[in-house]
Amino acid sequence: MAQIPSPIQKLVLPEFQDHQLEVWVKRDDLIHPHVSGNKYRKLKYNIQAAKEHGKKGLLTFGGAYSNHIAATAAAANEHSLQSIGIIRGDELNPDSNPTLRLASHNGMEMRFVTRTKFRELKADPSSLIDEFPDHYLLPEGGTNHLAIDGCAEILNEINFEPDYIITALGTGGTMAGLVKGMRGNGHTIGVSSLKGSFVHKDFQELLDQNTIDNRNFTLLDKYHFGGYGKLDQSLVDFIKDFSKLSSITLDPIYTGKMFYAFMDLMHQGFFITNSKIVLLHTGGLQGIAGFNEKQGRKVFDSPKIYNF
Ligand SMILES: Cc1ncc(COP(=O)(O)O)c(C=O)c1O
Repeated sequence: MAQIPSPIQKLVLPEFQDHQLEVWVKRDDLIHPHVSGNKYRKLKYNIQAAKEHGKKGLLTFGGAYSNHIAATAAAANEHSLQSIGIIRGDELNPDSNPTLRLASHNGMEMRFVTRTKFRELKADPSSLIDEFPDHYLLPEGGTNHLAIDGCAEILNEINFEPDYIITALGTGGTMAGLVKGMRGNGHTIGVSSLKGSFVHKDFQELLDQNTIDNRNFTLLDKYHFGGYGKLDQSLVDFIKDFSKLSSITLDPIYTGKMFYAFMDLMHQGFFITNSKIVLLHTGGLQGIAGFNEKQGRKVFDSPKIYNF
């Protein structure tokens, strides 16, 4: 079912020629309709491990619109595993929004907890492990060492050496995988969707925990547009214009901000001329329907397969 290796598409826009850059998009968004982008990469070895440990299901954590929740439910379903989602917000139910409906459609059993309880369970999941011994525990966002190894494999699918590879950043697992996979040969850039300089420390800790010593990377923390899930008209316009120019759909939470940052860096002359640049499309398109619903209007077109 999964399209591996994912396609890599050269983007030919006049602006890239003006700046003497060669730009590709690694289309991980096309890997699988419901386990797309970095989620496929992050889940691959974890699902293998769950099966090797004889587990019957996956148990994980997430917010109301989490791409990770939607993808974990779909991946578990495809691998004949059960899935349990601990969801932040006791006011929610499985029918509250398109993400939760999609997860529910894929058989996820959900437990809705208060924000305080959610934090407690994430910090100390021992009561969940006792209650669900047959389930394999995945952290919120799915980042662990197996997820990082899955993301590092993206580089094996690119048959040239990129001078730069760029990804959106949340927990940092995807970027850590790219930094590992690049092995110091080219520069990795991460664009944080979260507001705050804590991302630098957290990311460094993640590299250290995973003994990744490549330092050839830049983490950008100025393209969050006000914070997680926030945006302004310039980002809306950018995502719409980019989609018209390239026929590539971006999501407003992660990939839209990353592609915007790339264009901005290019305009600032950040990239060395004649560089080969790969933009990693990490998916996240299931989130558009929920984003529109939350805004109370259709801000972006949502691909039909996600309109649950
Ligand atoms: C679409 C998308 N892109 C990028 C990211 C960031 O990935 P990471 O958490 O590995 O930094 C996420 C979420 O975690 C995501 O859902």
